[in-house]
Amino acid sequence: MTANLLIRQAQILLPNQDFLKGDVRIEQGKISAIASELEAQTEDKIIEAEGLTLFPGVIDPQVHFREPGLEHKEDLFTASCACARGGVTSFLEMPNTRPLTTTQAALDDKLQRAAQKCLVNYGFFMGATPENLPDLREANPSCGIKIFMGSAHGALLVSTEAEIEPIFATGTRLIAVHAEDQGRINERRQQFTDFSDPAVHSQIQDPQAALNATQLALKLSKKYQRRLHILHLSTGIEAQFLRQEKPSWVTAEVTPQHLLLNQTAYAKIGTLAQMNPPLRTEWDNEVLWRALLDGVIDFIATDHAPHTLEEKAKPYPLSPSGMPGVETSFPLMLTQAKRGRCTYAQVANWMSTAVAKAYNIPNKGLIEVGYDGDLVLVNLEREHPVLREEVVSKCGWSPFEGWMLTGWPEYTIVGGQVAYERGVLHTEVRGKALSFG
Ligand code: DOR
Repeated sequence: MTANLLIRQAQILLPNQDFLKGDVRIEQGKISAIASELEAQTEDKIIEAEGLTLFPGVIDPQVHFREPGLEHKEDLFTASCACARGGVTSFLEMPNTRPLTTTQAALDDKLQRAAQKCLVNYGFFMGATPENLPDLREANPSCGIKIFMGSAHGALLVSTEAEIEPIFATGTRLIAVHAEDQGRINERRQQFTDFSDPAVHSQIQDPQAALNATQLALKLSKKYQRRLHILHLSTGIEAQFLRQEKPSWVTAEVTPQHLLLNQTAYAKIGTLAQMNPPLRTEWDNEVLWRALLDGVIDFIATDHAPHTLEEKAKPYPLSPSGMPGVETSFPLMLTQAKRGRCTYAQVANWMSTAVAKAYNIPNKGLIEVGYDGDLVLVNLEREHPVLREEVVSKCGWSPFEGWMLTGWPEYTIVGGQVAYERGVLHTEVRGKALSFG
């Protein structure tokens, strides 16, 4: 039974991008009233939010939460706790778990696990293999089809045009691509002999490998007019290409790490900076920022991909690629807004509104009467560093340790229930399965 919630005297980000100082009531999990002052009802739980700013809950559209099969890195409970700490009220999760999410049965299993364990709302991608076209067309509910064009091992790698084209030619649902050209990566790997510096990762999986795959995906999307989403865009040359060529039915995302970190990170944090697609140069950071600000890139995802410190300590290339992100993405971007790089309203659009729209998630992404009560209250004045000992994700580290951020969530609210409150997780809260379209 969800009690009613009254949030009092917050700075509320409205759909018209203005802020209103006022109150928001949530009844039965949905926003029922927004006004400069609302009368408290006897059954209301009240949050006194003077000095705090209310944003729509973050929807993270690319995460790897490791359950089932890889729970030593993360599981749906720990990952959803990390989400709650980071202001993430919904996530879309990737299929490279064990077993791979390539069948209706595997999808159902994840949905069931999530219903039992997740503090926040959840949706799952179906993974493409060269053989599972009928599953890709029919499995439900799913936010879309994920194709690893590169950087995957085993059955989830679908890397040749001959294998990829039938997926674009069949069905109508959204296709999201990890765009790296595996053929080129394989060739380039042969050209290197010294792997002692993990920075070589960015040389092997170079910008051209990313561009080749993005160009192929776009070509097929245009041929079949197929809804395409390009995951974690990492290079300036892809952004420049999309600026010229991106049709209205294609979207693209970028991660905070591809905006804020670059190859200089290897010297500081070694293999903790290793991910796919790799970190690039300062020039790429700048061009990606410009593309985001101009709307060439539509929204932000973390690609939260936790690995244990023990795994990351292996020498490259045995060290796995990936870094966690759900706890830091929102404060990182709000800190950028505070520094004047973008506005708070743009951050809310990139991390919530535009994501709900792109994936057709009803009633999410805005603070508006009738919308779901998925909200995050932040303090835009309080500074606090990213500290390893505070990381909630099972992996227990962050590539942003030591960064001083403002805009940490004070309260994260999921369907009107307080899931996180000033350092305390309410682990009994449960999210719901997302629907799409
Ligand atoms: O760096 C990455 N790690 N990129 C991916 O696309 C997959 C991820 C993982 O699952 O570890």
